[in-house]
Amino acid sequence: MKSALRTLVATLVAGLCAGGAQAADQVNIICSVQAEWCNMIGSVYARTTGTRINITMKGSGESLAQLIAEKDNPKTDIWFGGTGDPHLQAAEQGLTLEYKSPSLAQLYPWAQQQAEQAKYRTVGIYSGPLGFGYNPELLAKKKLPVPKSWADLLKPEYKGDIQVANPASSGTAYTMIATLVQLMGEDKAFEYLKVLHRNVGQYTRTGTGPIKAVARGETAVSISFVHDAPQERMAGFPVETVTPSEGTGAEIGSMSIIKGARNLEAAKKFYEWALTPAAQEMAAAAKQFQLPSNKNAKVDPNVPDFKSIRFINYDYAKYGASNERKRLIARWEKEVNSLPR
Ligand code: G6P
Repeated sequence: MKSALRTLVATLVAGLCAGGAQAADQVNIICSVQAEWCNMIGSVYARTTGTRINITMKGSGESLAQLIAEKDNPKTDIWFGGTGDPHLQAAEQGLTLEYKSPSLAQLYPWAQQQAEQAKYRTVGIYSGPLGFGYNPELLAKKKLPVPKSWADLLKPEYKGDIQVANPASSGTAYTMIATLVQLMGEDKAFEYLKVLHRNVGQYTRTGTGPIKAVARGETAVSISFVHDAPQERMAGFPVETVTPSEGTGAEIGSMSIIKGARNLEAAKKFYEWALTPAAQEMAAAAKQFQLPSNKNAKVDPNVPDFKSIRFINYDYAKYGASNERKRLIARWEKEVNSLPR
């Protein structure tokens, strides 16, 4: 009897120890892609490795603000996704850790270049083109044409019918500003943004807010990443996309390890996993259609066809530089967002 009890106690203690050892492996992630993707990678990784995954979801600009706020006492281990510019800014500000993944050679040159430019303090995990979303039914009802160019968006008939995010919180909206500055020159781009402001019904906090509003018929047009449309269509909403004829920019969605991460070894393991083709293919499984950065990852047919899009030669290093990003956003607040509509 006694020995049976001893065995039971020993088994329980062993179980607790094993449980304790597993619980020690934990990764705290700020995730700046859509919730479906964040939840998918979090739960698959947790289930297959036993690691505890804590996810906080935030837009790209808001994530950077959080990392700056917790600089002296980081609570985050990994920043997953979101546009590349604020990841570059975080790298420059010493918020993220230099780490050279052995898988770098498997990535497309644009993803490797993102890492090199950040002195390996970030890496490209996906890319996607900026364009316009529109609701064909609502446009027809309002007798509005499909906008084909940046110039079209300034037409007075779109007044109140365009949505875009706020560049302070959203990387999507900052990509728009940086794209326009590179297309037109800075002063002309700000003149453009002031006229566009008259047509904007609402600036949303997150980059995907506007295309969701288009899908649900709340606004006719959005300035959005075109890969955010198929998911809405699959849910049965009428939404189409177009890329502007003058040319457009693309994001290099990125991932960084936080400097001072409390769970560094576990974070590195997660980071390596996130660069594998299998992990990257989970984006499409979660109905997210960016182009994966690993050359061996399957490209879903819903991923935009980059070859058919006219791209500018986006200067990621320049527009991801801390001072430039801060200055352009401040200029937008002062000269554009403060204007009446
Ligand atoms: C969506 C897109 C991502 C993009 C992100 C930026 O999730 O699918 O490709 O990186 O928005 O979000 P933000 O709110 O910062 O514009």
